[in-house]
Amino acid sequence: MQAGYGGGLSTGGASIRQAYGNENGKIPDTVWRIRHVSSGAENVGYPTQKPEPLLERIIKSSSNEGDIVADFFAGSGTTLAVPERLNRKWIGSDLGKFAIHTTRKRLIGVQRQLKNLDKSWRAFEILNLGKYERQYYVGVNPGLRQEEQRSNWNIRNRLF
Ligand SMILES: C[S@@+](CC[C@H](N)C(=O)[O-])C[C@H]1O[C@@H](n2cnc3c(N)ncnc32)[C@H](O)[C@@H]1O
Repeated sequence: MQAGYGGGLSTGGASIRQAYGNENGKIPDTVWRIRHVSSGAENVGYPTQKPEPLLERIIKSSSNEGDIVADFFAGSGTTLAVPERLNRKWIGSDLGKFAIHTTRKRLIGVQRQLKNLDKSWRAFEILNLGKYERQYYVGVNPGLRQEEQRSNWNIRNRLF
């Protein structure tokens, strides 16, 4: 069985969509047919990335422009990128270094897109709370011996 954005379900021949007829105006039910993230431009390479149309639907139906959307398990930042385009404010967190870098890059991309479209865009800030995975941010080389890593850490941590 396959699912698509606007398309119906296909069960190897007969289309279930035909049974519904024209779905325009139909109230969404508990089954949402939204395609998973494929290899297109939306894909940022994060293993658990969710599709933007899914978040768009949730955010539009549960918030207004100017509201704040929060996702404390942000992953690749889908729940931050979508509200940025929908004139919402956002706040996100994640404990993973890769997640933060992916999200940062993605949001810079959104800023660029908005700028190119002559739309207003906002600056954002990344805060590093605590010292979790801090060695990666300050640039300690994990390939060094432990003693060297420690000395490297002391220098870089002061400079950071
Ligand atoms: C399923 S992914 C989120 C995917 C996201 N919706 C997207 O579209 O990319 C869950 C995320 O939660 C993060 N995470 C897990 N435990 C956490 C915790 N205690 N605090 C903050 N983030 C956490 C993981 O690093 C992972 O990036």
